[in-house]
Amino acid sequence: MILILNGPNLNLLGRREPEIYGHTTLEELEELCEAWGAELGLGVACRQSNFEGQLVEWIQQAADEGFKAIVLNPGALTHYSLALLDAIRGQRLPVVEVHLSNIHAREEYRSRSVTAAGAKGLVSGFGPTSYRMALVYLADLLEAQP
Ligand code: DQA
Repeated sequence: MILILNGPNLNLLGRREPEIYGHTTLEELEELCEAWGAELGLGVACRQSNFEGQLVEWIQQAADEGFKAIVLNPGALTHYSLALLDAIRGQRLPVVEVHLSNIHAREEYRSRSVTAAGAKGLVSGFGPTSYRMALVYLADLLEAQP
C-alpha cells in the first residue's frame, strides 16, 4: 500500500491557477492515482492537508500504518519546510516527491526544494502524470525489495 500525500492548497486543484496546475480536481487526481496503482499492482491511499503538522504526523506514522512507500507533493512547504524534511528523514519508507508544475521553470524561489533532500527522487512538471511516474518507480523498487 502506497500513501499519497498532498499538501497545502492542493485541495483547490481544478480551480486554482488552472493555467499552471491544470483542470484536474484533487478528487479526480486521487481517482487517477488509484487506477494507476491498480494497474501496477499497488494499493493506494490518498490524503490531503493544509497543515504542516498533519503532514508530519502522517509521514511519521506511515510505516506503522502498514504503508510501504510515500508519494509526497508538499505544495509550498517544498520550499521551506525543514519540519517535513526531518519527518521524511526520520522514518524508513522511501519517499518520492512530486509536483504538477515544473518548479525549475517558475519563480526562482520555487526552484529550491528543501524536502527533496530527504526523498529518493523528484518528479516535477508532468501534471498528474508526475504521480504516475512516481508510482511506476515505486512498483519497481518494491518488487526488487518487497
Ligand atoms: C506545487 C509547486 C509548489 O511551488 C506550489 O506551492 C504548489 C504546488 C506543484 O505541484 O507544482 O502548491 O507543489
